[in-house]
Amino acid sequence: MAAIPSETVLSTRHYTDDLFAFRTTRPASFRFRSGEFAMLGLMANGKPLLRAYSIASPNWAEELEFFSIKVPEGPLTSRLAKIAPGDQILLKPRPTGTLVLDALLPGRTLWLVSTGTGIAPFASVARDPETYERFARVILTHTCRTQAELQYGIDVVDGIRADALLSEVVGDRLTHVASVTREDAGPGRLEGRITRLIEAGELFEATGTRPWSPDEDRVMLCGSTAMLADTRALCERAGLEEGSNAQPGRFVVEKAFVG
Ligand code: A2P
Repeated sequence: MAAIPSETVLSTRHYTDDLFAFRTTRPASFRFRSGEFAMLGLMANGKPLLRAYSIASPNWAEELEFFSIKVPEGPLTSRLAKIAPGDQILLKPRPTGTLVLDALLPGRTLWLVSTGTGIAPFASVARDPETYERFARVILTHTCRTQAELQYGIDVVDGIRADALLSEVVGDRLTHVASVTREDAGPGRLEGRITRLIEAGELFEATGTRPWSPDEDRVMLCGSTAMLADTRALCERAGLEEGSNAQPGRFVVEKAFVG
């Protein structure tokens, strides 16, 4: 078996006790579509320990970015949480996944609906100019338990606005909707699970849109198993049908991976 290639850690940022982001070098041969995931990990007890990680950087970026939870007893994330610039991580080539533009039919509005670290693939999709070639409007929703957990998404969107080239492409067509479920939301923020915000119509009111329709709306979902089950049901109730790489549709789903 060929050795798994390794990449160098360039930077890390710890957001909370449970969440951190890191960047690595990207080999010239490492190609992916924005929204895909790769197998990433470390050597542990002489063996490679790998998990699926969504690539959070867009496909044009020179570096790779990942956003991870830290599970104290998690075999991989407890070790990964300690990486520092200069360390090596294992990264398998040939990413794959369904949260890609190719798995969706053309539409007007793209909804990127995430909870927790499920925002990672959307940090990639929202920073890809091709997304804005295909959709007139992009709405990124991120729901977490606490405000501190929203910071990564806020930084990604601030980064888009601060980037001269990207902000010209994106203009005012990207809307970021952040909500929390276990804390006061604070001014201008929505409160509650995304499922409730959809069912109560608050999401559509806040974004000046209409409830999802098969003609206009395309949805990507990424979060916990329970969140996906409930939001998938709302997609189906709106008359959207699931797409895949082989057969593009009106919504696509991927589980937020845990280590
Ligand atoms: P809640 O605080 O009400 O459980 P987690 O960290 O457990 O993955 O949760 C991330 C976010 O997803 C939390 O805000 C959580 O809300 C929300 N969530 C959990 N389960 C569901 C679900 N079935 N549908 C929608 N949102 C959910």
